[in-house]
Amino acid sequence: MKASPVLEISNLEKAFGGVTAVKSASFNVYPGEICSIVGPNGAGKTTLINLITGVYPPNAGRVFFKGHDLVGLPPHRIVSHRIARTFQNVRMFGNMSVIENVMTGSHRLVTHGLLDVVLSLPKARKEEQTIREKSMRALELVGLADRAKQRADLLPLGLQKLLELARSLVSEPELLLLDEPAAGLNDAETEALGQLLKGFCSQGITILLIEHNMPLVMTISDRVVVLNYGEVIAEGTPLEIRANPAVVAAYLGGGVRASD
Ligand SMILES: Nc1ncnc2c1ncn2[C@@H]1O[C@H](COP(=O)(O)OP(=O)(O)OP(=O)(O)O)[C@@H](O)[C@H]1O
Ligand SMILES: [Mg+2]
Repeated sequence: MKASPVLEISNLEKAFGGVTAVKSASFNVYPGEICSIVGPNGAGKTTLINLITGVYPPNAGRVFFKGHDLVGLPPHRIVSHRIARTFQNVRMFGNMSVIENVMTGSHRLVTHGLLDVVLSLPKARKEEQTIREKSMRALELVGLADRAKQRADLLPLGLQKLLELARSLVSEPELLLLDEPAAGLNDAETEALGQLLKGFCSQGITILLIEHNMPLVMTISDRVVVLNYGEVIAEGTPLEIRANPAVVAAYLGGGVRASD
């Protein structure tokens, strides 16, 4: 029997003015798997993550994480459920160091605010030390430990993506939502990323991966969900998806990049 889903999305809907970005989307994500969302540009993939993380409220539909209804919760409450994300367009504090950026991903900082932590000395100092150590371990994991003290905006784009990945890890997520983490990485870095993500799963983290890099998706995903114009048009194993005529048609019609 299949385990209960970690994430249950049903009939999710979001419109921006006249554009329906997500249209009655339903799918589940199961514990410890890598579930990838693919689809042409503008298909609604990022919007889906924004709906799950509370950036926008949906117009309709439901999102359950381990049985908890997430719809209507503010983003910081959703983070406290141990759901972390990275962004398609890297978001970081450019004038801060790499490690300081990673530290901002701490669940404690996100939910209580930096000021609370700073004001409650000396307990806070110890706590900051713990967060710093955890952040260093996350940087080691993604291969950025030697850059820890460097200004974040001096990193090349591909490495900024890895910084975001490290930041998402310090909140000790159970569910990781990744929006095009391989963008800006070369082939060797992409392969290393794939291994890294597989490793996270073997430690019990569940991953919802948005990615245009099809070789990566097809290699590491347990299941793939295909979005087209906001609708789920197919769902299955990588092999099933590759052979699905509706998917092939959507991709040919959707002007997917030649490198995909
Ligand atoms: N905040 C917003 N305001 C208005 N329209 C938006 C907003 N966010 C997304 N959209 C629109 O919703 C649709 C889906 O966008 P979304 O960014 O979710 O696509 P995507 O699948 O992530 O695309 P890409 O592969 O290019 O990142 C697009 O038509 C987009 O222009
Ligand atoms: Mg997107």
